[in-house]
Amino acid sequence: MREPDPTHRSPSSEVARMFDRISRTYDLLNHLLSLSSDRRWRRLAVRRLLLAPGHMVLDCGAGTGDMALTAHRHTEGISTVLLDPAHAMLSLADSKAGIIEPARFRLVRGYAERLPFADAVFDRFMVAFGIRNFSDLRAGLCDLCRVLKTGGRGVILEFTPDRAPFIDAIFTSYMRRIMAPLGAAISGDRDAYRYLSRTVQNFATSGDLVHLLEEVGFRHVESHRLSLGVATLFVVEKR
Ligand SMILES: C[S@@+](CC[C@H](N)C(=O)[O-])C[C@H]1O[C@@H](n2cnc3c(N)ncnc32)[C@H](O)[C@@H]1O
Repeated sequence: MREPDPTHRSPSSEVARMFDRISRTYDLLNHLLSLSSDRRWRRLAVRRLLLAPGHMVLDCGAGTGDMALTAHRHTEGISTVLLDPAHAMLSLADSKAGIIEPARFRLVRGYAERLPFADAVFDRFMVAFGIRNFSDLRAGLCDLCRVLKTGGRGVILEFTPDRAPFIDAIFTSYMRRIMAPLGAAISGDRDAYRYLSRTVQNFATSGDLVHLLEEVGFRHVESHRLSLGVATLFVVEKR
């Protein structure tokens, strides 16, 4: 695993430590609390990447690697680089790689706001439920644009607060009454699931995110509501 630049202490180091603490129960809770919708959302996002053999793909905020693994299952012959500041999350990703050659499944510890890669090296990028954790959203999106090749494509999955009103009422109550207490009980970390609930409620709307993605240099920015707006899929290109 490539280690992070020791001079870079991002404000999200704290967040990375939190993900390290909950890493053991992360996958279980992800599937349980989303009623397995996360698997469908990931497959949909990966399909929209239009992958081809030989593509070099960045999975930013890769966590335990489910997006990268979905991409490998979808298209043979791609190479993925999984970037995340949380060591324990990446170790779990490593343990799930199975028969994928290590050279095609590289793990790098680092932060989106300062990606340790040269300009225009990736054909594709993906970020699933990661941008909410960036300490500087604009800087993270700018750097994703920088490392993407011209003609490249990216997908971002995230919870956004602009859900249909009746879905918002159900979702908010589900988060407060089921997700936060169950997450706290199973992971043993009350703060982590309070953080999840708080950041999901207070994050940017999909409209604001589309503007920001255009401002940092992406073109053909599309947003698609998933599961009646519980999550949003953004598809971007760099021209
Ligand atoms: C909710 S998890 C999502 C993990 C994975 N993408 C998934 O879909 O399951 C968010 C991940 O973002 C990582 N993260 C936090 N701050 C980050 C940053 N500044 N840059 C990149 N990743 C970050 C966390 O360590 C964590 O693994």
